[in-house]
This record gives sequence, C-alpha cells and structure tokens, in this order.
Amino acid sequence: MMRLLALALLLPPGRCAVHRSPLDRSPGSDALLGQDDEVVKRVLPEGAAPGRSKRAVDAERARAALGADPAAEVTVWTAAGSHPMSNRSSSQWSATVVRIDTPHGPADLAVAALLDEHMVARVRIAGLPADKVPTDFLRRLGGFEYAAGSLEQPVSTLEAAQKKAAEGKDAEALLMRALLHVRSSMSQVTPANSVIVDRILKKERKPAEAEALSKIFEEMSRSSDALTFLRDDQRKRLRDLSGSHAASARAAAAAIRAGDWKRADDSLQAISTGCAGCHGQFARLFRPERAKRGIGDGYFRVGFDVLAEPGADPKLTDAIAAGVRRALVLLSNAK
Ligand code: HEC
Repeated sequence: MMRLLALALLLPPGRCAVHRSPLDRSPGSDALLGQDDEVVKRVLPEGAAPGRSKRAVDAERARAALGADPAAEVTVWTAAGSHPMSNRSSSQWSATVVRIDTPHGPADLAVAALLDEHMVARVRIAGLPADKVPTDFLRRLGGFEYAAGSLEQPVSTLEAAQKKAAEGKDAEALLMRALLHVRSSMSQVTPANSVIVDRILKKERKPAEAEALSKIFEEMSRSSDALTFLRDDQRKRLRDLSGSHAASARAAAAAIRAGDWKRADDSLQAISTGCAGCHGQFARLFRPERAKRGIGDGYFRVGFDVLAEPGADPKLTDAIAAGVRRALVLLSNAK
C-alpha cells in the first residue's frame, strides 16, 4: 500500500482552477483596506514589505474579458520575491482582493500573480468557515500558468469553441474536439485517481472511477488521428500509450469489482507510472496548439483547465475559479 501513497506524490503538481459575482468589491474605505492587508499578506512572499496603490482599470479591455462591467478602480499590492514554480530567482508579485459570492455567503479572495510570467502565484480565501475552505484546490491554483490570449477573451469564446467542436464535421472541428477532450479529461484524471486510491485503501468494490479513466484513455486513443499537428510517429505513440493506459484502467476496474486488491494496486501502479512518460513527450506540444485556437488555459473553468477537487463543493470551486479570473483581469488591466 505504500505504493498507493507514493502515487499521490507522482501526480503532476497543481500547475494547474464563470460568471461575474454581483458583489464586485467597491474600492473600499481604509477600514476595509486594513482587513485586506491581512489577507494579502498570506498570498505575497513571506516577509515582503508590499507597496499598495489604487489604480484605474482599463474598462474596455476588462469588460471584454469579463463580459460584464468591471470595477472602476482596483487596489493593487506589489512585492518582489521568489516563487517555487517560476523560472526566475526573483519575480514581481501583484495581488488584489475580490469579493466572491459562495454557497456559504460572501468571501474575500486574495489572488497574487506573476503577471510578466502569466502565472497565478498564490490564492487564499477569508470569510469562509474553516471546514469549508477547499485547501487543496487553492493550493493547486498556485503556479497555474495561463495563456494571455485566453485571459483576454470572455468565457463565451470557450463555450462557442466547445459547441463548434461538438457539432462540426471537418478536420479542424475534429482536431478541436480532440484538443478539448484531452485538456478537459486530463483535469479529471488526477481527482479520479485519488478516489481510486481511496477505493483500494478502503477495499470498496466501486469501479466507476476506474471505468471513467478507461473511457478517457480509450477516447484519447481513438481521437489521436485527428491531432494533425503531430508527426505520424508521434500520433502512433500517443495512440499506443493511451491504449495501454485504457487497458490498465480496465484491469483496475475489473480487479476492484472482484475485490482483488493486489491486482487493483498493480494496475493502478501501471497507470500512475505512465503519466510522466506521456507528459514528457506530449504535454508541451498541446498547449500552444490550444492557445492558437482560443482554447488555451486561462478560462478558469473547473473541469476544463482547472482541476476539480474530489469531495469539494462544485459551486464553491466554480466561484473561486471565476474570482481568480476576475482578479487577474483587474490586475492585468490596472493602469
Ligand atoms: C497518453 C498520454 C497521456 C497519459 C498516459 C497521461 N496524460 Fe496527462 N496529459 C497529456 C497531455 C497531452 C496533456 C496536455 C494537454 C493540454 O495541455 O491540452 C496532459 C496534461 C495533464 C494535466 C494538466 C497539466 C497542466 O498543465 O495543468 C494533468 C493534471 C494530467 N495530464 C494528469 C495526468 C495523470 C494524473 C495521468 C496518469 C494517471 C496522466 N495525465 C496520463 C497526456 C497524457
């Protein structure tokens, strides 16, 4: 069972999290700013002495991205510091606080970003009951890299692309469909995997998640021919790799159903050791192809570019993801 625990460490780091809340925080009084300073401290580098200023928001650009009227002004905190996911030894951090509407009432979301590097640095929330805070989800948002182009588009651009990909029949539509499938299915794989680990540890004969994994990799194998930006040999390798993952996931599902925990553990091991092998060859080739087509990371849609967290309330994680996007749009359009 140690191997199952090791799996959790093998999973890719959370480089990877929409609609506007009516509770857009007005550029507050100094009393409010005093509170915000406390929240913001938790997203900026430790020990930093941040600068704080109120800045006007480029309304036109922010409106285009949010599909709604942005706040006219935004309070921006800045500090320099290093970030474990950044390539630079010291980066410029910018942070702000947005109020979001959650199923547990309004909460304040502090978001820090390395704008030059298109990276979310850290996200924390204040005002939620402690047992409702989706800690893992917030932690995974730190280090998320977004495509600037996606951040500048309204979320309806992604929805239109999804619709076109679902309905179109030509080669470009098939390619879009395959790209969308790989991206959104990958953001399901990590949470599904941790549920499978749990099923095996608790000896629960529930194969649904392993079956879902096998479907994901079967579909990936089937659609690899549509990925025309890959060379023939790359397409074949992707087809084979996803095919063998589908087979391992099927074997895991059968073993879980039969209560053969040793075999279930072995199959899961086969799946988890293969993640990095495929990513090393392929992951970086997909990102620019998606960004080019307006379906890059940066929409902050849970289940598309942002990982779901097993057990977390989807309404809450959606609200947080949308809040992160709003904060980034405000920060990157602050004049
Ligand atoms: C057959 C190839 C293949 C296998 C096997 C595979 N992946 Fe992926 N994965 C990809 C590709 C390709 C991407 C990049 C997708 C994109 O950016 O559109 C990706 C991206 C991801 C991402 C998103 C990373 C980011 O940039 O945020 C996660 C998370 C992920 N995979 C998890 C997993 C896990 C966990 C496993 C193993 C259980 C796994 N994948 C196995 C091909 C694979």
